[in-house]
Formats: sequence, C-alpha cells, structure tokens
Amino acid sequence: MARFSEEQIEEVRQRSDIVDIIGSYVKLKRSGSGYVGLCPFHNEKTPSFSVNPARQMYKCFGCGVGGNVITFVMEYENYSFPEAMQHLAERAGISLPEKEMTAEQKRQESLRTILLEINTKAARYYYARLKSPQGKTGFDYLKERGLSDETILHFGLGYAGQGGDELYRYLRQQGYNDSVLKESGLFKIEERGCYDKFWNRVMFPIMDISNHVIGFGGRVMGDAKPKYLNSPETKLFDKSRNLFGLNYARQGNRKNLILCEGYMDVIALHQAGFTNAVASLGTAFTEQQASLLKRYTDEVLLTYDSDGAGRKAALRAIPILRNAGLSGRIVNLEPYKDPDEFIKALGDAEFEKRLGDAQNSFFFEIEELRRGYDMSDPEQKTRYYHEIAKKLLIFQDKVQRDNYLEAVAAKYDIRRDDLRDLVIRYSNRMPEGYRKEDRQERERKRNQKEEEKGISYSYRLLLSWLIEDASLFRQIRERISPEDFMEENYRIVAEMLYGQLEAGELVPAKIINYFQDVEGQKLAAQMFQTDYRTKMGREEKEKALNELVVRIKEYSIDYRIRNLTNVEELQNLILEKKRWQTPQNLHISLKDG
Ligand code: CTP
Ligand code: MN
Repeated sequence: MARFSEEQIEEVRQRSDIVDIIGSYVKLKRSGSGYVGLCPFHNEKTPSFSVNPARQMYKCFGCGVGGNVITFVMEYENYSFPEAMQHLAERAGISLPEKEMTAEQKRQESLRTILLEINTKAARYYYARLKSPQGKTGFDYLKERGLSDETILHFGLGYAGQGGDELYRYLRQQGYNDSVLKESGLFKIEERGCYDKFWNRVMFPIMDISNHVIGFGGRVMGDAKPKYLNSPETKLFDKSRNLFGLNYARQGNRKNLILCEGYMDVIALHQAGFTNAVASLGTAFTEQQASLLKRYTDEVLLTYDSDGAGRKAALRAIPILRNAGLSGRIVNLEPYKDPDEFIKALGDAEFEKRLGDAQNSFFFEIEELRRGYDMSDPEQKTRYYHEIAKKLLIFQDKVQRDNYLEAVAAKYDIRRDDLRDLVIRYSNRMPEGYRKEDRQERERKRNQKEEEKGISYSYRLLLSWLIEDASLFRQIRERISPEDFMEENYRIVAEMLYGQLEAGELVPAKIINYFQDVEGQKLAAQMFQTDYRTKMGREEKEKALNELVVRIKEYSIDYRIRNLTNVEELQNLILEKKRWQTPQNLHISLKDG
C-alpha cells in the first residue's frame, strides 16, 4: 500500500499532536505526566482512557483500545488509513500529493477500500435506475409515500431492478472480480451463475458516520416477504455498530437524538425537519449503538412503534441506554403506529408537541410493569409495589434514587416511607456481585487470566518492558533476538523496535504506522501497552523478567524443534534448551531503584 511514503506518514504524525487531536473529541484532564478522560469507545463513568504525550500514544485500560494519533482518527471517524492521513494532513496544513495509482497499487489497496468503492457504485447505479424509466415502479412508490425529490437525493434512495444480474454485469465490466463481489454481500455467487441479491426493491443506502456507504436495506414492492432485506455482515458492515441516519443527525444542533425502528421513519422525520432521527438496522438496539449515540448526545427520545412489539423493544432498549449513561424518554405516537404515519396524519407541529411530552423511561417501565397486575386485588397490588422497590435499585446514585422514589410514591399514591423501607430491605438482600458492573469486572479478569497463558501475552509484556526501560535493551538483546518472536506481527514489531533502540531513538508511535489497517494498528499498539507489573519491588520484578525471557526462549526453541528437518540441528537445540532450563548464568539483573 504504497500510497504515502514513510516520510509523509511520519510528518503527518509528528505535526498532529495527540493531545490536541484527541482533546478536540474527548474532554481530557491532566494527570501526572499525561492526560485522562472518558473512553469514547466504551461506556464508562470513571475515566480509564489515557493519553501519553511523551510517547504520542493513547490507551484505554478499560476496553483495551490503543494506538497513535492516526489510529485514533481511524477508529473514531471510521476512516480508512488514507482518509485519516488526509484528514490530519489538512488540519496540520500539510499538502499530500496523492500519487496516481497504478493498476498494481490499486489491486493492493485494502479490501475495505474496494468494498467501499463497490458500494458507492452500486448506490449510484440504484439511484440512476430509480430515475430511469425502468425504475418507475420504485419512484412512484416513494412518491406515493410522500418523499420529495430532494429527500430521495439526500438519502440516495434507489431501485433494484426486475431480477437477474444487471448490477453484477455492470460491476464486472468495471473490473471487479467474483471474489470481491462476493465479499460485498450484494450478490449470490454460485457455480451455476451469479445474480443480484436485491431486486424489485427500493434501496436505502446505509452510511456510516463519515458518509461511506457500508451496506443497503431494500424494501420490497408490494407485500412479498421479507418486507425488508438488508446487506449481510461484511468487512464493512456491522449492523450492531451503526445507525441509519446518524451521519446526518450528528451534524444537527438539537440537544437530543430520536431513535426509531425503521428507515422510512428516519427519512420521513428528516423531511419534516427532525434531522436528529436515527434508526437501528433491522436488529435490536445494541450497547455499541448506545455508546455511539453517547458521543453526540445525553438524551435519546424513543419513537418505537406504538404496538406491543414496539413497546417490548422499547423496554429492551431502555436499560441499554441507561447503562450508556443516556437518559431515555418515550414518545407516545397513539393512535398512529410509527413516526412516519404520525407525521403524515398530524403533521410536524403535533409531532414536536409529542416530543415535548415524552415520558421518562423509568416511568414508562413502571407503567408497563403495571399491566401485569390487577390493582383491585390487594395481593397483586402489594407485589407490584415490591417490584417497584426492586426496580428503584437500578439507581446507584443516592440522590437520584431518592428523587425517583419520591416521584413514584407521589404518582402511585404509596406512602413514601413505606416505599423507602422496601427499597432498603431489597438493597440489603442484594447479593454481592449482583450488580452489572461487578459481573463485567469479573468477566474482564477472567479474560485476562486466559490471555496471560498465551505466548503473545509474553511477547507484549517483553516489548512493553523494553519501551518502559530502554536500559534493559543490551541484556535482553543478548538473550532474545527478533527471530525468537514466533508470530509474524510480533517479529516485525520487535525488529523495528530493536532497530530504534540500537540507533538510540525510541519512537513506538512510529512503529504503529507500519500497520495501515485498524486491526494491525491496534495489535501493534497493544504490544506496547501491556500493563507490566509496576507495583513490584526490584527483586520481584527481576524474577518476573527472567521468567519471561526464559518462557519466550523456550517457546522459540520448542517451535524450532517441532519444525525441524535436520537432525544435527536437533542436538544443538536440545543443548540450548538445557542451558535455558538452568538459567543461572543467563540471569538478567536490574539496577536498584
Ligand atoms: N425490518 C427488517 N426486516 C423485516 C421487517 C422489518 O429488517 N422483515 C426492519 C427495517 O429496518 C424496518 C424496521 O425493521 O425499517 C421496522 O419495520 P416495520 O415496522 O415492519 O416497517 P416500517 O418501517 O413501518 O416499514 P414500511 O413503513 O415500509 O412498511
Ligand atoms: Mn411504517
């Protein structure tokens, strides 16, 4: 991927100060020699996201993400490597002469870029088709549903033809082969022929927050099943991490976001001026989507369908919003089914009113719960109150819990003190480890234990150690060479790091540039950020380091023994292994301090 030279990449990286850049997205606070803040990649209430200005790297100790400034922009904006480079270069006032790409370079561009290209071409094709005489069915349908030409263009809506292989043939002509076309998820590629997966449908391009088309939803004309067909998961498209309409909604200046069920709802709302509407993509609302929303707002208005299924879906979404630190309110659309129908019937002013009257999500839950009890029966009524008390325990903040308690007591005419007694009773009964945070913490510890057994963990530990304390380099180099890293990515990183240490210039953030996809960068970043035992005393540390070196060495010898072709070599390796099993003479000593 020789699109940018190493010098260009380094220049962009050096001229983009990581604290500046991350600070423009995340509120950072000084802490020791670095900065901390709330991690934008997972939900948290106490900051575990740290930025190290000396190393020009960031790391979240909660969810494990990390990297340099380029990685951050790729992750946050969902940019490819070249896009992140362009973005940072512009910001820093550096001009990046883009090389004219040769056919060969094109082939080497990452699959992701090619898939984006395919999706963009497909979207344009569907749009052109919608506007052509053959697309009349689709066009009339959208018109009949009240969409203006402007709206159709804004969302890039289209029409997938009458079946067959037209899009397939068009893209083949454009030079894409079957294997990438298959990866796009738009085609059925089979022995006996290749076909377009979408046909007789109006097409909704699904865009990520940076306006890339990452997939499609298609609504069938008429009543055939399934009503909506969505792109399958691909290298680009992860339903659980994207929201339809967020690319536009995030630019608006309303203080909250509206979450709906369907594509048509979002489009109808935007057309009516509610440009803060988004929808999950034909699946249940997920935690990742919640943390995505949390980047842009603190309050989400739920406009799910007003039927039983919609209310159930709302009940599932509420705790997810709450866990992400978002407050949720539920919009009543009665007597209409969804926002699209509501707006059509009563107009935008009336909808605006409903938004204003939206119900606090806790009260919504309590009311839904009530449906299961017969309030005229004292037994059932008692049980209902007990359930309310238990539910109040979700509020960990005491003031917040008290406020809710008071409001609920007033609303349902329960004596406040009685309700408080119940809450206290249940709160004492709540077993340790019941709370969600505790469970997540346990899970994290367990995963960490699992991971520590693997050899890559040892590699990461050694690399991190070297970066933290370059004075160990000489002693370590005598024992472990880059060839002792038996996993390719680690070997590459070790080679670069050894090179830097030998030249006496340690710049780990530069090593990360070698990997130009997010996965590779994450891996490289992680290699340097395994939290080595800072709290250990000197002796303990020395012991840990020596054990680590032996473990890596033995693994390397064993690996070579397993893959041996020549018997003389075996003798040597066995002897060498013996030497390492009595490692007194190989002992690394740490300086005091
Ligand atoms: N959906 C889906 N697959 C289906 C049905 C629905 O993926 N078979 C998703 C779509 O994202 C759809 C949303 O769920 O937009 C809501 O579904 P529904 O309420 O049935 O559709 P509407 O949005 O009301 O669709 P329309 O107004 O076009 O009938
Ligand atoms: Mn509808």
